[in-house]
Amino acid sequence: MRCPLAVRYTPGMLDKLKEMEQSGLAELAKASSAEALESWRIKYLGAKGALKAVMPLLKDVVKELKPAVGAKLNEIKNALETGYEERKAALGASGNAAAASTGPFIDVTEPGIPQGLGRRHVITRTIDEITEVFARMGFSVATGPEVEDEFHNFTALNIAEDHPARDATDNFYMGATGAVGNLLLRSQTSTIQIRTMEKTKPPLKVIACGRVYRPDTHDATHYSMFHQVEGLYVDRNVSMVDLKTTLLQFAKAYFGPGTEVRTRPSFFPFTEPSAEVDMKMKVKGEYKWVELGGCGMVDPNVFQAVGYDPEEWTGFAFGLGIERIAMRKYGIGDIRWLFENDVRFLRQF
Ligand code: DAH
Repeated sequence: MRCPLAVRYTPGMLDKLKEMEQSGLAELAKASSAEALESWRIKYLGAKGALKAVMPLLKDVVKELKPAVGAKLNEIKNALETGYEERKAALGASGNAAAASTGPFIDVTEPGIPQGLGRRHVITRTIDEITEVFARMGFSVATGPEVEDEFHNFTALNIAEDHPARDATDNFYMGATGAVGNLLLRSQTSTIQIRTMEKTKPPLKVIACGRVYRPDTHDATHYSMFHQVEGLYVDRNVSMVDLKTTLLQFAKAYFGPGTEVRTRPSFFPFTEPSAEVDMKMKVKGEYKWVELGGCGMVDPNVFQAVGYDPEEWTGFAFGLGIERIAMRKYGIGDIRWLFENDVRFLRQF
């Protein structure tokens, strides 16, 4: 009996093909360097490779089965070629075959290293909160330079030439005492009142938060640099009532509805009348009066210095210490902690 070719050749051929596919793909997975991959390519896809070697066997397959075996052969050829291209792309991802072979193994399923999120400094945050409260009352934000001239820091603010606030020991002057055009680190944000009025026509309603500098000895409540929030409202018929109402609204919005505001008569050269501002707020569960800064009605001399007509315009101004506000609000006992930049402390806010 004649043994059909299909029986004689086809199973052998199919086994060979299957075996070649399996070993080819298994070896391919192990090729972890450009060199290993190239040896694999030569072995399986090369001119004298396994795939080429199996081709001649096709002619021995019985005619009826040729299409099926041919199709299987094509399928394997494709699988090996595609596998090769993918492996090559994976290894070449570093753009460097040597690195791919020797570089660190990266397990993309491994959980990442958590990157701690930073946060705003408690003073920055307080400034943002204060700004937000005043913005709701219609105040816009003004700014000014930290290095100032004596005109903006003193003269335009009606501070006399011989006023003790100008003392060399109370300010950070840049040049020699008495030098013409001497600059200094601003000692108060009231400078921004002048800067703003110089470039804006009334009416205006601004707040300005920023750093001020004074050569104070550092202790729990003093630091040579601190922050103030300055407020200035200029319009027709502005009164003390507007001033007190504004401060009260701020106090209630910021520290809570139970907060009270008290003004005590005082003196500042740039306001007349002038007052100290205290707020009664909860400190460690108990309501206490806390002094926060000064305020008053803008002195006509200040209006004159910036070219506003004091007969037409009236205004109020205030300046509060931001560290005091933050320290009360967050129960911080020592101003120095704010600027030591110990993240274990700062992270709490
Ligand atoms: N500039 C004052 C200071 O640093 C605070 C101040 C008082 C600001 C009264 C004002 C004000 O605007 O009207 O001590």
